[in-house]
Amino acid sequence: MAARAHGPNILITGTPGTGKSTLAAELCQRSTLNYVNIGEVAKQGDLYEGWDHIYECQMIDEDRVIDELEEKMGQGGNIVDYHSCEFFPERWFDIVFVLRTDNSILYDRLESRGYTGKKLEDNVQCEIFQTILEEARDSYKEEIVHELFSNTPEELEDNLEKVLSWIEHWKATH
Ligand SMILES: Nc1ncnc2c1ncn2[C@@H]1O[C@H](COP(=O)(O)OP(=O)(O)OP(=O)(O)O)[C@@H](O)[C@H]1O
Ligand SMILES: [Mg+2]
Repeated sequence: MAARAHGPNILITGTPGTGKSTLAAELCQRSTLNYVNIGEVAKQGDLYEGWDHIYECQMIDEDRVIDELEEKMGQGGNIVDYHSCEFFPERWFDIVFVLRTDNSILYDRLESRGYTGKKLEDNVQCEIFQTILEEARDSYKEEIVHELFSNTPEELEDNLEKVLSWIEHWKATH
């Protein structure tokens, strides 16, 4: 087990548009944890393995992303933000939060972000089928996987408080 000298490692995952980056960035403002946005890590290091013609986006090179982050994750104190979760080493995370958003709210968020057609439909379907929640439950111990609803600013604030109090508890007991 890694030493986690800098605190716990937290994974924030969920369908695109459920509010991962909003929550993760605010958590980092209100705690000493360090924000790790996997999309940004891939972009900065040019850690891609090709172009996805269906979704018209870069495909990240998962192995190189893991190599890039291994040392930092070993030190602990990171909040990782990504819309998939099964390729990370299980040992990296002390807790996993899966953000959930009602279909109609998610649809509007993604549409106002400019998503259309298959990309819009597939992302909403992903949320309807709880794909990321199941992926998380298949990839991590059930007791460390928690669903958080993220439909409204009030729920965002509740989620911030829940995660911050979990961090305080972790620090007090480690
Ligand atoms: N709890 C919430 N209530 C209302 N609006 C929210 C909430 N959380 C996020 N939003 C809004 O929803 C949009 C999507 O949020 P955000 O970019 O954080 O999602 P994401 O999960 O990081 O998406 P992606 O996977 O594509 O990066 C933003 O406009 C954000 O302001
Ligand atoms: Mg994001």
